Amino acid sequence: MEFHSVLEERWSCRAFTAQEVPEATLRQVFALAQRTASWCNTQPWQVHLVSGEARERLAKGLVESVVSGSGGSDLPMPGGYVGVYQERRREAGYALYESLGIAREDREARDLQMLKNFSFFDAPHVAIITTDADQGVYGAIDCGGYVANLLNAAHELGVATIPQAAVAMQSPTVREVLDLPEDRLVVCAVSLGFADADHPVNAFRTSRATVEDSVVFVS
Ligand SMILES: Cc1cc2nc3c(=O)[nH]c(=O)nc-3n(C[C@H](O)[C@H](O)[C@H](O)COP(=O)(O)O)c2cc1C
Repeated sequence: MEFHSVLEERWSCRAFTAQEVPEATLRQVFALAQRTASWCNTQPWQVHLVSGEARERLAKGLVESVVSGSGGSDLPMPGGYVGVYQERRREAGYALYESLGIAREDREARDLQMLKNFSFFDAPHVAIITTDADQGVYGAIDCGGYVANLLNAAHELGVATIPQAAVAMQSPTVREVLDLPEDRLVVCAVSLGFADADHPVNAFRTSRATVEDSVVFVS
């Protein structure tokens, strides 16, 4: 697949089949992501690739912490969503719920859909991405680049993915289940597997602002 096709076609998968990704393919995906550029080449990302019984334990712990309201995030959360950020967030959210036939006012159905984050939308693998605490904002930026490359590399090799901040909002549970040391901070999760091609949630695509909205050409 050409690089521009990967960028144009990748999407966030929210319904996976149970089929595991062959280890050789996973290794190829992570080897490509490892090429990510970073501040002073520090490469602050570390990944716990969780599958099998450990994945079950993590999912169970996450659902318990969400239900008990004992969550928390290692990284600071956004201050809020106003103006264009609120509009884009809403548009993406409405497209998601519309694809599933969930009415905007149906809070219960929306909550149930949100909870699917914590069973990784049935993906057989979930990568937990952490950064080094001392690397601060720059470490988080580098991990963002790593995640982007991971998603695109996976797509090229036929593996569906979804990045998940929802999992990072339950960092105490992630830390406990994976026994993370103090100096590692949870950035996000990326679930990986094969897309359930017939599921309606995988049919919608998000839009993007124009280049003019984002780029100022200065000369
Ligand atoms: C860092 C990051 C965290 C995200 N967290 C979640 C999440 O917790 N749950 C979810 O359903 N989607 C999550 N997404 C997916 C975004 O909603 C999605 O990337 C965006 O709407 C653009 O759609 P696309 O990925 O299909 O192009 C996240 C994306 C990023 C980059």
